[in-house]
Amino acid sequence: MGGKLLLGASQSRHAHAVASPPLSKVATSGLHGEDSPYFAGWKAYDENPYDAVSNPGGVIQMGLAENQVSFDLLEGYLRDHPEAAGWGGSGSGVASFRDNALFQDYHGLKAFRKAMANFMEKVRGGKARFDPDRIVLTAGATAANELLTFVLANPGDALLIPTPYYPGFDRDLRWRTGVNIVPVHCDSANGFQVTAAALQAAYEEAEAAGTRVRAVLLTNPSNPLGTTVTRPALEDVLDFVARNNIHLISDEIYSGSVFAAPDLVSVAELVESRGDPGVAERVHIVYSLSKDLGLPGFRVGVVYSYNDAVVTAARRMSSFTLVSSQTQKTLAAMLSDAGFADAYVRTNRQRLRARHDHVVAGLARAGVPCLRGNAGLFVWMDMRRLLGEATTVAGELRLWDRMLREAKLNISPGSSCHCSEPGWFRVCFANMSLDTLDVALARMSRFVDTWNKETTASTQQH
Ligand SMILES: Cc1ncc(COP(=O)(O)O)c(C=O)c1O
Repeated sequence: MGGKLLLGASQSRHAHAVASPPLSKVATSGLHGEDSPYFAGWKAYDENPYDAVSNPGGVIQMGLAENQVSFDLLEGYLRDHPEAAGWGGSGSGVASFRDNALFQDYHGLKAFRKAMANFMEKVRGGKARFDPDRIVLTAGATAANELLTFVLANPGDALLIPTPYYPGFDRDLRWRTGVNIVPVHCDSANGFQVTAAALQAAYEEAEAAGTRVRAVLLTNPSNPLGTTVTRPALEDVLDFVARNNIHLISDEIYSGSVFAAPDLVSVAELVESRGDPGVAERVHIVYSLSKDLGLPGFRVGVVYSYNDAVVTAARRMSSFTLVSSQTQKTLAAMLSDAGFADAYVRTNRQRLRARHDHVVAGLARAGVPCLRGNAGLFVWMDMRRLLGEATTVAGELRLWDRMLREAKLNISPGSSCHCSEPGWFRVCFANMSLDTLDVALARMSRFVDTWNKETTASTQQH
């Protein structure tokens, strides 16, 4: 918060006499979403953060999809290449300071867009091509998703989003744009894969209620599921958007974090293999370096569209959300080093896989299964059995609250992701040390034991 304005005694009396000046509808609407359990858990962590030495009884943050497992590789690169860590590029001192400080137009630096295009190809195993001239830079995927919503939809229109979905979308896509989200309910029977029937039903219901559907937003790999969308499901989504003359936003922010089979099938691959301009022009990909490279603080995102008009509008709009020249230069140097980038992607995947397997095994020992995952920084934990008769959102939130207050674990409840089945939770595993993760797993195991004993005792009493 900024500093307080100091008023004299007589001015202060006057200030009390008049009502506060009103703020805009956007500023005062509740669509920022920050009162959901997802953000409440973050607050509980901020107020009492775990530290092995100074606060061993504190809350462990398992609700933050942050990747710290390969940070040493980035630091190693910067140690070996101090020129990239400084002001970036080949210049040094005052000369390169000028380069960074002076005006940058909204196209972004060519060298960086080229490096991003190559990196996006690399994480997809070379199965798709990206044209640097179609890359629009934004301040993270948050800005990219909002920007695309502004470009594709009018206030009052809607986007279809398969559930469960990233809780931030409720804020990012709706708050400032006035656009609505229509959830497309998916369920565990087929591993929460979206189906053409579910899309069509949600579409028809929205249109019948007078809401114009403009696009589907798919997250592939999925946050919170930690799984990739299957090829047939993706083909169905493409057919669906073409049939209904709407757009597809594919948020592929975790595309470089697929660590086990099956491989990612990016929508970029399908666009290329279909070779149909009528399909291509409705597809827009979102990417960012927040997850695969673990750099959410750098605020680097991308809108990649096959539609010329969307590229032009998005580029103009990106004026509101540019990436600093210094950041672009440092990352252009890092990502253009093919040897470094290859080794990073490979090692990061191996480490994520090891983490994932460690968590899944630890939770299994505690008697808690997970959806089989192959990507991302989290597992989708199935606690439905613990809910017993209380398979409701209220029952899920009671369980969540006790895990937070008693086990001191902040884990995101499925209802904050609009999951249609109560009892699922997202558990992040890459934002802490292995030691902290083990403390968290031990806490979880004790919590489940206590819960089971209480449940047994209460059923015996009845
Ligand atoms: C699916 C998805 N999209 C977008 C974002 C926002 O990412 P960024 O930090 O690049 O704004 C996240 C972050 O968790 C995410 O999981």
